[in-house]
Amino acid sequence: MSVRIAVGAQWGDEGKGKIIDLLSSEADLVVRSQGGANAGHTVKISDKKFILHMIPSGVLNKNTVSAIGNGVVFDYDSFISELDTLKKTGINPDGRLFISPYAHVVMPYHKELDRAAENCRKNKIGTTFKGIGPAYQDKISRCGIRVVDVLDAEYFPVVLKNNIEAKNHIFEKIYGEKNKLDYDKTYKNCIEKFEIVKKYVKDVSLLIEESLENKKSILFEGAQGTLLDIDYGTYPYVTSSNTTSGGVCTGTGISPTKIDSVIGVMKAYTTRVGNGPFVTELNDEAGKHLQSVGCEVGATTGRQRRCGWFDALIARYSSRINGLSSLALTKIDVLGGLDKIKVCVGYKYKGNILTEFPPVSNILEKCEPVYEELDGWKEDISDIKEYKDLPENVRKYIDYIEKISKVPVEIVSVGPERNQSIFK
Ligand code: IMP
Repeated sequence: MSVRIAVGAQWGDEGKGKIIDLLSSEADLVVRSQGGANAGHTVKISDKKFILHMIPSGVLNKNTVSAIGNGVVFDYDSFISELDTLKKTGINPDGRLFISPYAHVVMPYHKELDRAAENCRKNKIGTTFKGIGPAYQDKISRCGIRVVDVLDAEYFPVVLKNNIEAKNHIFEKIYGEKNKLDYDKTYKNCIEKFEIVKKYVKDVSLLIEESLENKKSILFEGAQGTLLDIDYGTYPYVTSSNTTSGGVCTGTGISPTKIDSVIGVMKAYTTRVGNGPFVTELNDEAGKHLQSVGCEVGATTGRQRRCGWFDALIARYSSRINGLSSLALTKIDVLGGLDKIKVCVGYKYKGNILTEFPPVSNILEKCEPVYEELDGWKEDISDIKEYKDLPENVRKYIDYIEKISKVPVEIVSVGPERNQSIFK
């Protein structure tokens, strides 16, 4: 029995989908605690590729129960469409997939507001347009609609009417669009969709408690990454939830005293989609190598990811904020073929060298990376199964990352498939 959290240790897209799929073979219950359909977890099993946005990646393991916690903003359209795709592929999660009644619902107007707000922003965040910010905004403003509210025939029409009225006011007064939202259409569509959704609703905190009592193993599936956290990320270029391990307790209803370990999923280099500071970003041949060999394209938006060298300041920051017990180092095979590999060990800022990550965008934008250089390798490592069989320079790189980030590497991922994983 173990209770583990898997979090993204950089700016998201670290390969969590694959690692969670791998770890969930040992888990009885996999739970998501935050974010929404902005996540894009890619899992490759044999010749099939699954991209999941709303449903936890654990669902691909037939013996695992998956749950969406109260901290998630629930996109019912995305949920239904993924459910449909899974069922067509022969995976039927009925009876082992649940949604917390206390999760807030992403309504169609949240997506419209996301787009309208982003279009008006001078400094664009580069959001995914999945309605994440506006849905969390309503939650914090205490006017949001939860799953349990949609299922309440008396309350739902009242709260939806109030919201439509308020949002129409915003559209008219701020964005100059009169009578944008139609109550009847929104109501009918949501009620129809929840006919499908309602059988999956279950109290996730109670489900977790039952699992703990029955000595089951639980895995919490993080979405996005540490530097996109609303509190600890590169604000304001962040998402609207707590993507760090602390968010798991408030987002699912498990007590902090029950967590055994936290595994940080970290790419062997760094990527970011959307805007915001990125000290080790590369605009040269090495950057092109990482982008093309790593197929660095966003799973949710299809945007090209920005690429750069591994950043030890981020690794240590992430370790501190999340309390990382170990690392899953992903996509190390992508570095193959490069003569030299650089690792950022400090930031030059106003004549000083910073050795701790400053989570302030305005400072980060003015920082210059200080690098140490390691030798690369030419061998293709994607079929290697044992740690000892990795080329010496790969092992040296991993040792270096362990030393500099002060976290032991537990898993080394050398390709997208389940079986391209080495347990160190
Ligand atoms: P939002 O979450 O759609 O509001 O987007 C806020 C920022 O987080 C943008 O820069 C997005 O590109 C980024 N983002 C959101 N979800 C993910 C993810 O799953 N992976 C990587 N970046 C993400």
